[in-house]
Formats: sequence, C-alpha cells, structure tokens
Amino acid sequence: MKKDFPDSSSGTPVLCLEKLTIGYGDNVVLKDVDFCVNPGDIVTVLGGSGCGKSTLLKAMIGLLPPTKGRIFLRGEEISGNVSGRALAETRKRIGVLFQSAALIGSLTIAENVALPIIEFSKAPPKMVHDIVRLKLEMVKLGGFGDYFPSDLSGGMKKRAGLARAMALDPEILFCDEPSSGLDPVTSAEMDQLLLELNESLGITMVVITHDLPSIMTISDWSIMLDRSVRGIIAKGPPDELQKSPDPRVHAFFHRQPTPED
Ligand SMILES: Nc1ncnc2c1ncn2[C@@H]1O[C@H](COP(=O)(O)OP(=O)(O)OP(=O)(O)O)[C@@H](O)[C@H]1O
Ligand SMILES: [Mg+2]
Repeated sequence: MKKDFPDSSSGTPVLCLEKLTIGYGDNVVLKDVDFCVNPGDIVTVLGGSGCGKSTLLKAMIGLLPPTKGRIFLRGEEISGNVSGRALAETRKRIGVLFQSAALIGSLTIAENVALPIIEFSKAPPKMVHDIVRLKLEMVKLGGFGDYFPSDLSGGMKKRAGLARAMALDPEILFCDEPSSGLDPVTSAEMDQLLLELNESLGITMVVITHDLPSIMTISDWSIMLDRSVRGIIAKGPPDELQKSPDPRVHAFFHRQPTPED
C-alpha cells in the first residue's frame, strides 16, 4: 500500500519543520519548508548546489535560527531554543556527522568519540571508556581507538565521525554528505553501515546527499529542494521521484543538465 509522506498528523514524528523560512540577513534561501520525519525513517534531502541543503541542516541542528516557522523535536518546539543552555539541551538529543567529519586532529579517535560523552553526561571514566569502545565497534573501528585522525582513510574518518555523532544515543542523526569524497566502493560501504545502524538500532536519520546511488539505496523518503523556487519541489520515495514528470526532478534523477529556470 502506498504510504503518504508523513506530516504532523501522523502520530508523533521525531522531527517536524513547520513553514520554515531561513536565510542570511535579507537573503532568503528557503521559505515555507514543511516536512516531518517519522521514527525509524531515513529521509534524504537532495538538490543541486546552492539550493540550501547545508543551510537547512544548520537550522535543523540549531546553528541558524529560522526567520519564520518552527522546528519540533518529538513534538517539543526547539526553534525557540536560542539561549546557550536550551541549545545545549537540544544538542544532547541530536547527533551530527559533518561533511568533513570534523574530528579534532590532536586527539585520538577514542578521545574524539569521548568528547560529547564527557561534555554532556556525568558518566564516570570507566563508563566513558566502555561506551567509546562500543561505539567504535558499531562503526567497525574496534581496535583503532588509539589512532589519530591523520592515520585514517577518508572512509574511516567518516565512520569515526559517525561514532562520535552516535556517542550519546541521539534521537535523530543528521549526516551531511556522508559519501562525499569517498570512492564508489567506500561510499557503498558507508550506505550499508547507515542502513545497518538504522535497522539494528531503529535510529531515525536525515541525510543530506546528492549521491544518486546512495539516495536510491538508503532513503525511505526524499525531499528535493530547488534554488529557483527557494523551497521543496518534490517529496516522496526516491523510486517515485525518479519517475516524476517535473523537468527539474527528472534532470536530477537522470543526471541531465538542469532546464533553464
Ligand atoms: N554563511 C553564509 N552567509 C551568507 N550566505 C550564505 C552562507 N552560507 C550559504 N550561503 C548562501 O546560501 C545559499 C545556499 O547555500 P548552501 O550552502 O546551503 O547550499 P547547498 O545546497 O548546501 O550547496 P552545496 O551542494 O554546494 O553544498 C547559497 O546561495 C549560498 O551562497
Ligand atoms: Mg552544502
């Protein structure tokens, strides 16, 4: 049976964006963005360069306050959380894998993964150690805790970033371009790892990507943004979007030049 894209009426979504407008000063990048993410779903956010994917991510993780609209995490508004303390409370509940993995070069992989646990929990050192070991095993980096980021390949760095993002068992995991800079095989391995974590732990994910094989492999739903309309032009399972008659959606899914705006 065909499922409709989730909205705020479909139970309690993990994340809901309501008529969100975001931008920088007078430059409106996205307006009236509405979508929800249900528990356990993987939603991919797609779109050409400059359409606002990273801007949307910044808003969803609390780094960029929306100009208008609201963001809800499990029904609780987080977009008003602009004070340091409230923002820290929100940050405890979400995990973020940044595009560059954003590991601290002077710390070992284990120390990088331990950072959020030490910062946001009262776990004693032995427990921090055990959690770090578990998280590194989860991303298949067991035994690499004492390595420094510069000792690791691109794919391993991303997996270490993933272990850090999952350190506090987040309610939702955001990933910015998890396969960028990876060769096709490593990229496919990253997709499999995300699927494995989703299936085994039920973790809800929002993944920013324009990698077509990844989109087709991991998404329950996709949201396509477009620069000319400054908003969403398509929502749905990727195999349906692939058949969309909209010329911009068609061009993206069939790797053709974008039609003139
Ligand atoms: N810090 C900033 N200040 C002002 N404008 C910005 C800033 N960051 C991004 N923009 C502008 O916002 C728009 C969307 O940029 P964004 O980085 O969100 O796009 P994107 O979809 O992530 O692109 P890409 O696929 O190239 O990463 C662009 O026009 C960009 O110039
Ligand atoms: Mg970007």
